[in-house]
Amino acid sequence: MSREIIIAGNWKMNKNQQEAEIYIRALAPLVALSKVSVYLAVPFTAIESSVRAAKKTNIVIGAQNMHDAALGAFTGEISGSMLRASGAEFVIIGHSERRHLFLESDEFINKKVLRSLIDDLIPILCVGEMEQEREANLTFPVIERQIKEGLKNISGEDINRCAIAYEPVWAIGTGKTATPLQAEEVHQFIRELLSDLFGKKVANKISILYGGSVKPENTKELIQQDDIDGFLVGGASLEVLSFAKIINQC
Ligand code: PGA
Repeated sequence: MSREIIIAGNWKMNKNQQEAEIYIRALAPLVALSKVSVYLAVPFTAIESSVRAAKKTNIVIGAQNMHDAALGAFTGEISGSMLRASGAEFVIIGHSERRHLFLESDEFINKKVLRSLIDDLIPILCVGEMEQEREANLTFPVIERQIKEGLKNISGEDINRCAIAYEPVWAIGTGKTATPLQAEEVHQFIRELLSDLFGKKVANKISILYGGSVKPENTKELIQQDDIDGFLVGGASLEVLSFAKIINQC
């Protein structure tokens, strides 16, 4: 299977422009020989300096969120075209912190995915169940809803430009990682769902990343799973050496 392996760092609300530049200059030589795609989702204010620092490296810079409108009276928001013009190439959409802390709905998330494609960004659509949902055996129905709603009205062609991240909410920033089998079970479910929605060929090509307390110590056993095509890494991406270790094990 020749799916793209993507290792994406999600810095969340960490690092200013200078810190971003220093980090990227240190990371670049450590991952220069890697065959995986190295993505960094940096804060809006660090996009331009990160893009500059990442020039002539294999590091791709993106954003952590965007608004669904092209422009207009949305104080404090940012559009996909602004991100693209700043040099961002991808955007995380529907991260669980956006869904739960900022109450973003599946409908809003879907609109953002559609807009990101218009703006020539690669969307990484995040999905994941909460702890109570897993305990109530609702993991699959929750994931099914988030995928179906999140990818609504996406054309057969555009879907090839999307990536998915499965991030169980109970594993994000908690130190509790899903076991490789727990993660693989959901990744397989997502791939089957994508096959039903878009056909087998598309489903076999889409990269499905795992996220939630990924660190150098658990990278190897997770990446060995058939349907895990990379990671979305929060905490462990803040340190150059730990992020490089994750990348170089994939
Ligand atoms: P974590 O975050 O690696 O710190 O658990 C992952 C994420 O929120 O994308």
